Amino acid sequence: MAGQTLIVGNGAEEQKPNKAGLEGIVAATTALSNVDGQVGRLVYRGYDIHDLAHSTSFEEIAYLLWFGHLPKRSELAGLQASLLEQRQLSTDILTILRNLPAETAPMDTLRTAVSAWGMYANVQGQPTIEQAIALTARFPLILATFHRLRQGLEVLEPRADLSYTANYLYLLTGQEPKAEHIKGLDAYLVMLADHSMNASTFTARIVASTASDLASAVVAAICALKGPLHGGAADKAQEMLAEIGTAENAEPWIRATLSSGRRLMGFGHRAYKTTDPRAEELREMARQADPVGFAFARRVEELAVSILDEIKPGRRLYTNVDFYSAVLLSSVGIPIDLFTPTFAVARIAGWTAHILEQSANNRLIRPLAAYSGPASLAFVPLDQR
Ligand SMILES: CC(C)(COP(=O)(O)OP(=O)(O)OC[C@H]1O[C@@H](n2cnc3c(N)ncnc32)[C@H](O)[C@@H]1OP(=O)(O)O)[C@@H](O)C(=O)NCCC(=O)NCCS
Repeated sequence: MAGQTLIVGNGAEEQKPNKAGLEGIVAATTALSNVDGQVGRLVYRGYDIHDLAHSTSFEEIAYLLWFGHLPKRSELAGLQASLLEQRQLSTDILTILRNLPAETAPMDTLRTAVSAWGMYANVQGQPTIEQAIALTARFPLILATFHRLRQGLEVLEPRADLSYTANYLYLLTGQEPKAEHIKGLDAYLVMLADHSMNASTFTARIVASTASDLASAVVAAICALKGPLHGGAADKAQEMLAEIGTAENAEPWIRATLSSGRRLMGFGHRAYKTTDPRAEELREMARQADPVGFAFARRVEELAVSILDEIKPGRRLYTNVDFYSAVLLSSVGIPIDLFTPTFAVARIAGWTAHILEQSANNRLIRPLAAYSGPASLAFVPLDQR
């Protein structure tokens, strides 16, 4: 497409630059988060992710994104109480979850349950902070309930004495969650809560810009997150590590994969042209959480970055968030097919904050397309073709 003559919406012919995938295009203004991909910096409302990762909880970050500042203790307690009040699934949603085939993909389960919640809760009109809280509180419940049901286990009652993260782990496993697992998963949820104009957030903002409702915008975001080029990469990275199997097999496996034209999952990023700062944090967390799994993953990472540089010079392909997410999520006991849904358990905070931001200062998002089809063909009626 580069340099082609194309016809834009008003009929004029123009030389359009190659912006496949809207690369480099500023599509919205946001005060929520910023990615500086050249130096590998991510901020939420001005705060560096390295400062937030281990010193804040997911609830604090949701507060920061929704309300614009880090909460005082009393403000945090208020939000925790509101989330707790919403920590429940109605019988209608439970019935839907009970009737889903056990082999349903968890992202499909989440999409279906959120859509049903929007209908049963009559989520209509301008998105509200109350709707954002109500839906966020339900994400872990939907996934953990489905995970129990598909194993033929009893659904557990959510626990009011546990945090958002601890309650998710408890509902998944039925065990008292270990302090280090809660800490690890909470830091993961903090780091994945928002990420500027990623594909699922952009999708949510587009839907919100049509003055549609919050549940619809979140359903659309879930659909976008599901794809392996976006949120679906962590489980693929885990599968890749399992397929490689041993450190000795890593180099031949990577070379064979790249020469067959396939991609290495957990590497490369549209915005980061250096290591993703979340990957740096996750690398250290994985080192602590699972030293053996970490040592192998680290070897694969070093080889992958060096071979990518050799085979794809100048593309600047480094480790992204999904590579060490795989090691960390495994170490805290999240099943592989819940990796992407657990990403959603974090990102629901960012999605809803973006939906609220978009709808508070809305203009319909409606770009143009550069038309590349024939300009003017003579119409031939059906029976003469
Ligand atoms: C994330 C991703 C979709 C970004 O893609 P993008 O910005 O559109 O980059 P492109 O698809 O244009 O790729 C640019 C070049 O790098 C190569 N490349 C990018 N990521 C690669 C990867 N993970 N493995 C091998 N090659 C890769 C492409 O083949 C392309 O090479 P070419 O110039 O010879 O055609 C891409 O890096 C990718 O597919 N990564 C693997 C999936 C993944 O980890 N996703 C999670 C993202 S957080």
